[in-house]
Amino acid sequence: MATTFETTEVEFDTETGVGYLTLDRPDALNALNSQLRSDILAGLKELEGKNSEADGIALRAVIMEGAGGNFCAGADINEFSDASAGDQSDRSHYETIRNFPAPVIAKISGYCLGGGLETALSCDFRIAHEEAQLGLPEVNLGIIPGAGGVQMISELTSPAVAKEIAMTGEHISGERAGELGIVREVYGNGFDEAVEEFAKTIASKPPLAIQAIKRSAAIASQTGIEEGIEYDRQQFKPLLSTEDHKKGARGFAEDDYEPEFKGR
Ligand code: COA
Repeated sequence: MATTFETTEVEFDTETGVGYLTLDRPDALNALNSQLRSDILAGLKELEGKNSEADGIALRAVIMEGAGGNFCAGADINEFSDASAGDQSDRSHYETIRNFPAPVIAKISGYCLGGGLETALSCDFRIAHEEAQLGLPEVNLGIIPGAGGVQMISELTSPAVAKEIAMTGEHISGERAGELGIVREVYGNGFDEAVEEFAKTIASKPPLAIQAIKRSAAIASQTGIEEGIEYDRQQFKPLLSTEDHKKGARGFAEDDYEPEFKGR
């Protein structure tokens, strides 16, 4: 059953552990106003608590998408001059996605611009429709992407690519974003199914290991490789003593045993 906030909607599949967070301001191409930014946080909080009582499946992965065929056309330009609407470079929903315990997959169709692209870049994975349009148009307004768009594209591709996208402000297609490595995969037909399939694959893995990998990758990009290796060392032994590790090892040894991981 769906939980509805003013501008987002969340659903949770108790069979797979996959959660769905939909940005739901389609008339404004899901532009990020203060209400939507706060409802993204509310939606993530709601999903974080999701747990299927019956078989113990807690939230394992999230698919984030936009209603009405567009991911998000960026910060709500109408709020730029409204001092009461909060800071558009407010980092909280971007940071919350980056630190969210389950991997978040951005399902990108239609426009994915400015803060919308920065939201997608804050996710763990991006899968795009080939006709999606991605870009950082802030330069046309005399400002810069305020939530790390240039940094995150630099990290995924190169500073030269990030500069080109942010300095021209032009849109690139989903297909081009795939060639550049900004999104992991691009689809025309079969887009919906491919995103589902990928989310289910991630959701079927041992959740404690998935969380440790997400944290490790964050340390590698935010702090440095030495700290990251130290973190990996600290995580390795405790994971060896989990029930999920024993199941995984049994799955490796016995052809007819299919492990079902429970996060313990
Ligand atoms: N903020 C607020 N409203 C926005 C918006 C944004 N970033 N992007 C789109 N909208 C609204 C439009 O004002 C319009 O509302 P209206 O129907 O009440 O007039 C509605 O969404 C549809 O947009 P429209 O411009 O009519 O659609 P389009 O297909 O002609 O163009 C875009 C789509 C995305 C190219 C165009 O809307 C655009 O350039 N938006 C701004 C993108 C941007 O600069 N984002 C970064 C901001 S820092």
